[in-house]
Amino acid sequence: LVSEPLKVMISGAPASGKGTQCELIVQKFGLVHISTGDLLRAEVSSGTEIGNKAKEFMNAGRLVPDEIVTAMVTARLSREDAVERGWLLDGYPRSFAQAQSLEKLKIRPDIYIVLDVPDEILINRCIGRRLDPVTRKIYHIKNFPPETEEIKARLVIRPDDTEEKVKSRLEIYKRNSEAISSTYLKIMTKIDGNRPKEEIFKEIESFLLQVQKDTEKMEKSG
Ligand code: AP5
Repeated sequence: LVSEPLKVMISGAPASGKGTQCELIVQKFGLVHISTGDLLRAEVSSGTEIGNKAKEFMNAGRLVPDEIVTAMVTARLSREDAVERGWLLDGYPRSFAQAQSLEKLKIRPDIYIVLDVPDEILINRCIGRRLDPVTRKIYHIKNFPPETEEIKARLVIRPDDTEEKVKSRLEIYKRNSEAISSTYLKIMTKIDGNRPKEEIFKEIESFLLQVQKDTEKMEKSG
């Protein structure tokens, strides 16, 4: 029995742990991880036209204009690997207009996961976050320190991870989150993101296995 590929959306405030959980979800379910933040950072570092436009917004902790991000995401979602293996969309939609763009194209997830974490913890997580530019792995100076001195020496800090910018990103998130979740209320699953990452993943995993089962059943009966 071959089940339909899973389509998953993951949302949550800055540093709620989306990227961290996505690493674990991809390992287990083989979905194509589409992170708008990662795609945009890649455009910025290669100095493309999109990157040059996006850079100032990102560095200020503001949203990049919808038309830039939407074109990028819909192109990526329609590629063969995402269609065949299923997708895990991280960081999109981030506004009501973005959610509506997907609705118009009839692109809908099977489940909408929201990671819930208190503000003061988010700020701490951002300030301690470090990225490995080689493996793209996410670390934290206290919570998840790098495994070796060699990795430690090459870690980088995101330009939008200062306390002031984190606060502005959080503000924008809060302003938009209700309007976005109104589009996905029926499939919304809130998860307590203020726990050890393995524990959070166990819960996400059980939800995804359930969704997989449900889509299999629908295929059998339909
Ligand atoms: P994006 O990269 O999406 O940033 P974000 O939403 O602010 O999310 P983060 O990447 O900050 O956090 P995360 O939830 O992935 O947490 P992580 O796992 O790293 O977007 C960046 C920018 O791009 C935006 O500001 C905007 O300008 C632009 N952009 C992107 N999408 C856009 C869109 N759709 N429209 C317009 N503009 C867009 O974890 C954080 C830290 O906490 C890490 O150090 C990690 O090690 C640690 N940690 C994780 N889990 C745990 C845990 N359980 N316990 C303890 N520590 C943990």
